[in-house]
Amino acid sequence: MFFALKVCFLFLIQAFFLAHSAPNDCQPDEKYIRLDQCPHVYNTEMTGLMRREYGIDYFQYLGPQKICCPKPGNELPNTYICGRSPAGYRIARGQETSPNEFPWMAMLLYMNNTSMEIIPSCAGSLINNRYVLTAAHCLSNMPDALTLKSVRLGEHNIWETPFNRWECSDRSLRCAVPHIDVDVEKSFVHGRYKKGAQRLMQHDIALLRLKMPVRFSKGIRAICLLRDHPALTNARLEIAGWGKMENGWFSEVLRRGDVTEVHPNRCSEMFLHLQFNFKTQICARGRNDVDTCSGDSGGPLMATMKGYHTEFVYQVGITSFGHSTCGTIGYPAVYTKTKAFFNWIVRRMKA
Ligand SMILES: *[C@@H]1O[C@H](CO)[C@@H](O)[C@H](O)[C@H]1NC(C)=O
Ligand SMILES: *[C@@H]1O[C@H](CO)[C@@H](O)[C@H](O)[C@H]1NC(C)=O
Repeated sequence: MFFALKVCFLFLIQAFFLAHSAPNDCQPDEKYIRLDQCPHVYNTEMTGLMRREYGIDYFQYLGPQKICCPKPGNELPNTYICGRSPAGYRIARGQETSPNEFPWMAMLLYMNNTSMEIIPSCAGSLINNRYVLTAAHCLSNMPDALTLKSVRLGEHNIWETPFNRWECSDRSLRCAVPHIDVDVEKSFVHGRYKKGAQRLMQHDIALLRLKMPVRFSKGIRAICLLRDHPALTNARLEIAGWGKMENGWFSEVLRRGDVTEVHPNRCSEMFLHLQFNFKTQICARGRNDVDTCSGDSGGPLMATMKGYHTEFVYQVGITSFGHSTCGTIGYPAVYTKTKAFFNWIVRRMKA
């Protein structure tokens, strides 16, 4: 009910500000060209959201209209584009995130087939403008009555609509930009993930293709995905989420937590029946009394690459299981190791 209302408000607001795009509105990874020369946008269903995102005029011929054409969906962005948060935002170290601190966070929205309500449950991460990475159990192991519908991007505070934006409580008055809900066109669950398996939680990975390519903005951006990366021993890793959404309760504002990798033996001992595999899974636990609940199923386990002039966030894992011990400090949780599935992901991405 609440979500439906919010979507409605947003639609009204955006309808008033329908504007054409201009070359200088384009993001660094976009090209200002004719719509018919941008097939991955041109061949997409022209929904209201699509027209607003790309400033497409409904009353003119589509082909000759110029738009900011994003990269096709079969590419991962380079590290000058992905994994960047707005400058200075990532300094705050509280549990509550700053608006748009993790602009790749996606909230998965499900439809209940009897009540027709939209219910948020798992999380995911935007890896380019067309694909969201999540856990297989967020698709295959959900109650039968729930069907994944769409993905919410650019969300920060779930109670905040464009109309009450003035209430935005961030101390520095940096408020979040409005979110968008994008329908899921197709989903890919790893073929070796076993539905309902209590014994195994291997290959807990899934990829969602969105119905349209989204544009990166202050609030929406992809996280980097690397074929390989340095060992994570002692690295500060981060998780984020809206909280215990599986119980129907969730945090209003996106929350974050620090975690650190622990020896695979910890998870092997802890989850005897689940056969922890260090080649495809990461065992990590909260640092500094972090409640591991603040990471949602399907959401990213993140690391930061710091160079001389560059700093970007990349994904190393997908929150898989271990959160039944929510609130128990120091208990490890298991994450699907994204590096082990890099080729699986890339092979599924299409323009
Ligand atoms: C779906 O909605 C029905 C009717 O409101 C409710 O009884 C049921 O528990 C819901 N199912 C889920 C999985 O949320
Ligand atoms: C909704 O899901 C439940 C549980 O799988 C199923 O029994 C029921 O037939 C579904 N109802 C509709 C209208 O699809």
